[in-house]
Amino acid sequence: MTVKERRIALTGFMGVGKSSVARHLGQMLRCRRVDLDAVIESREGRSIAEIIDTVGVDRYRQIETGSLKYVLGQDHTRVLSLGGGTWTIPENRELLKEAGFTSVWLESTFEHCWLNIAFSRKDRPLARDKNAALRLFNERQSDYSLADWHFIVRPDLTSYQVAREIVEQVFS
Ligand code: S3P
Repeated sequence: MTVKERRIALTGFMGVGKSSVARHLGQMLRCRRVDLDAVIESREGRSIAEIIDTVGVDRYRQIETGSLKYVLGQDHTRVLSLGGGTWTIPENRELLKEAGFTSVWLESTFEHCWLNIAFSRKDRPLARDKNAALRLFNERQSDYSLADWHFIVRPDLTSYQVAREIVEQVFS
């Protein structure tokens, strides 16, 4: 696979902007972009919040891995935005690697993520409480750091600018 043909998976904490950056990447690279959370919701016919609230986080993770396998089976997906917890599951990391995805960690401060979470319309069951979200944020840093690439998302950068930087660094 040449650099230009790279497939990338965006990981990072909730609210960091994975989906928006992926949308710009898809447009810039003129390629198919998939949002894993959206795939889960469409396959399950209900929102992620409803799934987690009904069946619990452990079962949700199984559903998520099932949808990840489904997406990875589609050869033409080149840009994939993961849910904030997807990359923390070793099996998911393995599946992404086997499918030839380069993983990119979008890192930001907790406060930056929290601000986006608080102002977002998306209901995130694992981030309804600030302290619980902060605990999760701290717990996950070591998993996120296993990604192939690492980008610091400064609060003054737009998701378009972050996507531009990724294109310049990962695809050149
Ligand atoms: C989760 C993040 C969410 C969604 C679910 C669980 C997590 O995605 O997958 O609520 O465990 O961090 P975003 O990171 O897109 O908010």
